[in-house]
Amino acid sequence: MAHRLNQCHNVDDFRQLAKRRLPGPIFHYIDGAADDEVTYRRNTHAFEVCDLVPNVLAGVETVDMSVTVLGQRLDMPLFCSPTALQRLFHHDGERAVARAAEKHGTLFGVSSLGTVSLAEIGALISTPKMFQFYFHKDRGLNQTMLERAKAAKFDVLTLTVDTITGGNRERDLRTGFTSPPRLTPASLLSFALHPAWALNYFLRDPFELAELKDHVREGSNVSVSVGEYFSTMLDQSMDWSDAEALRSRWDGPFCLKGIMSVADARKAVDIGASAIMISNHGGRQLDGGRSPFDQISEIADAVGDDIEIILDGGVRRGTHVLKAIAAGAKACSGGRMYLYALAAAGQPGVERALGNMRTEIERDMKLLGVSSIQNINRDMLRYR
Ligand code: FNR
Ligand code: LAC
Repeated sequence: MAHRLNQCHNVDDFRQLAKRRLPGPIFHYIDGAADDEVTYRRNTHAFEVCDLVPNVLAGVETVDMSVTVLGQRLDMPLFCSPTALQRLFHHDGERAVARAAEKHGTLFGVSSLGTVSLAEIGALISTPKMFQFYFHKDRGLNQTMLERAKAAKFDVLTLTVDTITGGNRERDLRTGFTSPPRLTPASLLSFALHPAWALNYFLRDPFELAELKDHVREGSNVSVSVGEYFSTMLDQSMDWSDAEALRSRWDGPFCLKGIMSVADARKAVDIGASAIMISNHGGRQLDGGRSPFDQISEIADAVGDDIEIILDGGVRRGTHVLKAIAAGAKACSGGRMYLYALAAAGQPGVERALGNMRTEIERDMKLLGVSSIQNINRDMLRYR
């Protein structure tokens, strides 16, 4: 059981530390998923029931794990997926993750439900930045967010397409989690039991949804559940023509996050998307949906030559990244792999988490017998 940052050697160590440091409702918002969380568990288990076949005597004194994806050169084939409400997890929020991603030369994804403005993040780091776009009913809000992402010189626009309504997050229903947290006897007790978190939450910068606060009540201090937000604020009529129209309004790489079927992957090619993130939102939406690692091979076989494929979800180890790349991913992304670390120890935590993953990827490449990410191929995988 990790009690301090220097005892965190893997994602699960950070998860244990985050669980101790966060009030229950906030920990379970990160850790939880939809319905019975079957897909959430399968997302990682899918990697565990697939084996790597290494080669040896390959001369791997030095390895090159850099990749170019979404038009960006990344120093490692794993980047930070966009995740909401980071101010709730640590008072430095997105500032901490941005700086850690910059230190490791990888991409930082910022959510529409971010708690630090795009302008501030754009000025803060010089490494690749992705703005994750939620398509709201309020078209003025959509336009304002797009303009702000351009003004802040974000490199990639990513439209999330698997949240047309809220997933059934039963842990949040039980804990009464809302954004921002409602002050109830139960929540106040959970705060009192986590004094360090409470002091930072109440005495430092106030919580706000930076890009939404001037447009919708829910962006200020009106407490709503994430499910309510999805169901009331996002445009459930969104379709492929909306996605194509959004792409046409963005000058740089455009990505769809949450593609799971071959048919949709083909449509993403047809509308001119640069990349797709094969993702089920970390199991937080359609429980019973297939895991990205189970699904990626058939998508890669169908469109791998026409569009970049990113595997998002369930990644907890360097070997998971290498397996995904062998199956056809250009790179991987993850949320909880850095969020637990953010909650546990802010920027130093995220830097250590990304550093742990980098070290694992390097070691695993050598043990696999590859000196470059480009040398990894499907023949190194065996499905049980
Ligand atoms: C997310 N995710 C997410 N995705 C998105 O497009 N916009 C968002 O605002 C959020 N917010 C969010 C919050 C939290 C707490 C989590 C855990 C996840 C999904 C995220 O980008 C990514 O798809 C998953 O986290 C991938 O699964 P793993 O890596 O967490 O297993
Ligand atoms: C979530 C939303 C915010 O998964 O994407 O919580």
